[in-house]
Amino acid sequence: ALPTLARASAGKDAFTFTEILRGTDSTHHAPEGYDVQLLMRWGDPLFPDAPPFDAYAQTAAAQRLQFGYNNDFIGYLPLTPEDGQDERGLLCVNHEYTSTLLMFEDVGDNYPATVTAEQAAVEMAAHGGTVMEVARRGGQWFVVVPSRFNRRITADTTPMTLTGPAAGHDRLKTRLDPSGRSVAGTMNNCAGGITPWGTYLMAEENINGNFTGMLPDGHRETANHARFGVPGHWYAWGRHVDRFDIGKEPNEPNRFGWIVEVDPMDPDSTPRKHTAMGRFKHEGAETVLAPDGRVVVYMGDDQRFDYVYKFVSRGRFDPDQPAANRDLLTEGTLYVARFDADGTVTWLPLVHGKGPLTAENGFESQADVLIEARNAADLLGATPMDRPEDVEPDPRTGSVWVMLTNNHWRTEDQVDAANPRARNYWGHIIQIVEPKGDFAATRSRWEILVRCGDPAQPEVQASWNASTSENGWFGSPDNCAIDPAGRLWVATDGNAMTGAADGLWAMETEGPGRGTGRAFFRAPAGAEVCGPRFTPEGDTLFLAVQHPGDGEGATFLAPNTRWPDFAEGQPPRPTVVAIRRKDGGVIGG
Ligand code: FEO
Ligand code: CA
Ligand code: CA
Ligand code: CA
Repeated sequence: ALPTLARASAGKDAFTFTEILRGTDSTHHAPEGYDVQLLMRWGDPLFPDAPPFDAYAQTAAAQRLQFGYNNDFIGYLPLTPEDGQDERGLLCVNHEYTSTLLMFEDVGDNYPATVTAEQAAVEMAAHGGTVMEVARRGGQWFVVVPSRFNRRITADTTPMTLTGPAAGHDRLKTRLDPSGRSVAGTMNNCAGGITPWGTYLMAEENINGNFTGMLPDGHRETANHARFGVPGHWYAWGRHVDRFDIGKEPNEPNRFGWIVEVDPMDPDSTPRKHTAMGRFKHEGAETVLAPDGRVVVYMGDDQRFDYVYKFVSRGRFDPDQPAANRDLLTEGTLYVARFDADGTVTWLPLVHGKGPLTAENGFESQADVLIEARNAADLLGATPMDRPEDVEPDPRTGSVWVMLTNNHWRTEDQVDAANPRARNYWGHIIQIVEPKGDFAATRSRWEILVRCGDPAQPEVQASWNASTSENGWFGSPDNCAIDPAGRLWVATDGNAMTGAADGLWAMETEGPGRGTGRAFFRAPAGAEVCGPRFTPEGDTLFLAVQHPGDGEGATFLAPNTRWPDFAEGQPPRPTVVAIRRKDGGVIGG
């Protein structure tokens, strides 16, 4: 057995809420004594001139002024409260993707081929992100409209610049952008992060799905696009907009799949895509400082058999030099993780000219290494994981929590110490411990915290603390958060596999309770839970309820739930909720 990385209990406050029950129904559930407020729904106005939401007549112009679809990451930046307010801040919310069949009354019988140009434009306007001012009076949160901060970032109309070694490279040039330095939009923004200098990081994930078309025979990008699953043909965008057809614009996919940095304080600022951080299916990008002030960003590449990465900046964070901090993510070293059976993590640098990353293997420059980070990581011998999703560093303990959602494609032959189950339908959570809290270290330790799934079924081979109740275990960990008391919370995407709705669980990570899960929130049917984010006092928890009502055969007219409005004939709406304790106390007890 591995030496346990569990520290003795550091005296963290115990969870004292009463667990909710496993199950699935049309609505959400939170423990007794908690209020769940619907803060912002798909289509709600962000600007005074936003038309009222009309699901039967949605337009791209309206959508650009309204909250987008499928809310995912949530960041919170506190602001000084104004008169009569108890709390105020900016919420930064990603809109990961569009559920075409739930958004539109009629997409015809031959979806996605029948999606119209206007519907595709609505979808592009519903991707991206939202920055919005929020405030609380007493127990009640609300979105401030108008606000000088409110902003929509979309997949088509928001100009962005590229930074770092791949910016301006030939492989990033297109007819619309012969400079290779300027991209219209960001898309498939899954999780993300908030930096110590107050910017918002948006992670571009399953961008392949929006591309259609075919490369000419023998095209330079053939192997690159194949490794990324481009074109995915999931949407009709390429039928209406040339740049999403790779036959017409073979380089356009290389301009997506990056980490995007946004200054939420300035709604006129130009977001930047940082190529130094690598191109893959980015799940999240949580930032932490190494003891020497370098910035470390942990990132998962969410696909079966893909990798865990970290980026270490070249420069150092300086709280007195806010302008200089803005460029910290433009230069640094990207590493990919190899998890060895002896409990070591070795972080392998993706640096051109090092090891196999040479011209003989198709990497002419650092730009090639970053554009094809996955192919580079393959050659370096990184450990193929069971779908790395959120990767969350805890600055207080030096621990990093890695959510591995699931991977039922793994065979017995492919099992290894860090991915110990074949046909892993349930996922697991790995703890990485950085030596002496040095997040920039290139050798770390790792151990599995829990193997998810039903502990009552021996064939599942789950591992939980024995004190976990029948409601406290789950499957498919995806997003996670560390609350202000240092406690871990895990949200799921795919718990339906175990016969119950997705939700949010509190997880004990230290002391005798290590590995105990406790059910806190349950999503309505068809939804996953994203973006857990606590306010600095820990007395509000924001959650993103994504794709409610979805599922096999679910449509606009026949969804699995009409949450949260429950209005006859109206579709379900992805919604950010704010959870408070009725007595105003700390979430979780
Ligand atoms: Fe967008 Fe990996 O979930
Ligand atoms: Ca996710
Ligand atoms: Ca997170
Ligand atoms: Ca997911």
